[in-house]
Amino acid sequence: MSLDAHLVALIEVIAPELGATLTVEPIYRRSGMLRFAGGAVLFFRNNSLNINVAGNARMAADKSYLSSFLAGMGFRTLPEIAVARRDVRHGEISPALLADVLAFAAGNDWRVIVKPNALSQGRGVRLTQGRDALLAAVHETLALDRVCVVQQFCAMPEYRIVVLDGQVLQAYRRQRLTVTGDGRSTVAELAARKIAAVTGARNESGGAALLAATESIRAARGGAMSDVVAAGEDLAVADIGNLSAGGEATDVLDNLNPHWQALACELASRCGLLLCGVDIFIADIGDPSSDYRVIELNSAPGLDDYLLSGGAQRERVKQLYRQVLVTAERTMAAAAKA
Ligand SMILES: Nc1ncnc2c1ncn2[C@@H]1O[C@H](COP(=O)(O)OP(=O)(O)O)[C@@H](O)[C@H]1O
Ligand SMILES: [Mg+2]
Repeated sequence: MSLDAHLVALIEVIAPELGATLTVEPIYRRSGMLRFAGGAVLFFRNNSLNINVAGNARMAADKSYLSSFLAGMGFRTLPEIAVARRDVRHGEISPALLADVLAFAAGNDWRVIVKPNALSQGRGVRLTQGRDALLAAVHETLALDRVCVVQQFCAMPEYRIVVLDGQVLQAYRRQRLTVTGDGRSTVAELAARKIAAVTGARNESGGAALLAATESIRAARGGAMSDVVAAGEDLAVADIGNLSAGGEATDVLDNLNPHWQALACELASRCGLLLCGVDIFIADIGDPSSDYRVIELNSAPGLDDYLLSGGAQRERVKQLYRQVLVTAERTMAAAAKA
C-alpha cells in the first residue's frame, strides 16, 4: 500500500486548515467531495486528485494523440507507430500496417517498447526483442486497450518532474529495478531481497506480483531465476522505471538545470495542465543543451511516489497536497469571477 492510499486521510487533515468541508464516500473511503469556503467544489476519486480542465486531462491520458500534439508544438518525442483494434481482422493486423510496424521495428534493431495507449502506472508496458515477441506483445496489448503504441526504445536516463502552476514541485530520477550480483546468490534471491527493500521502504505491498513479473521478463530474455549473478554485475530485472513496477527513485531537484525546469513548466502550460507530472528522458540534467525526449504527461500525478515512509515525509506530502488544493481553489475562484 502506498501513501496514496492515505489520500483521504491526508485531505481530512488539510481540509479544515483551508476552511473547506470534506465528505468522504463511506463504503470504500477512496473518494471524496471537497467544498471550499468560497463555495467551489472539487471531487477526487479512487485516490486520484485531478485539478485540471477535464478535456485537457483526457488528452494527456491518450499517449498517442498527446505525442502527436507535442511533436507539432516542436517538443522532442520518440518515433512510434500505433496499431488499433480496428486494424486487426480475424487475428491479423492489416497487411499494409503490419509491413510498416515490422519495418519500424527492424529500423530500431527489433528493440522496441510496446504499450497500451491509455493505461497508467506502467501496466502492460514492455520491451520486446525480435519479431515474434513484438507481434505477441501487440496482440496482448490490444486485449487491454483499443490502441497499442510501438515506440523506439530510449536508453537515456528517465525523470519525473511534477509542475504545479508554473513551479516545479518535485523532480526525481527513476531507475528500473536492478540487482547487483555477489557471485553466489541467484537472480531469484537477489530480486526477492531488492523487491522487499524497495517496497518495504515505501510501505507498499505487491512484492509477490513484482517477483512474478521479474520471472516472466527473465524468461522472455531466455534466462532463469536460478542463474547465479556474477559478483559486481548489474542486472536489470524490470523493463520500466515506474515506481509501481518496483522502480527506484532519487531526488534530483537540486541538480536540475533551470532549462529543464522551464521545459517541464512549458510542457504543462502549453497543454493547459495546472498540475502535471512530466515523464521525460534527459541525457544530462546538468547540461541545458543535452538531448531529451518527452515520454508522457500525467494529469493526476501521485505526489508521495518517491518519498520514504515516516513522519517527516508524511508532513512533506501533506504540504504538497495542500499547495495543490490551495492552487485549485484559487483557480476555480478566478474562473467563477471571469
Ligand atoms: N520509449 C521508451 N523507451 C524506454 N523506456 C520506456 C519507453 N516508453 C516507456 N518506457 C518505460 O516505461 C514506463 C512507463 O511508460 P509510460 O509511457 O510513462 O506509461 P505509464 O502511463 O504506464 O506510466 C516509463 O516510465 C519508462 O520507464
Ligand atoms: Mg508514465
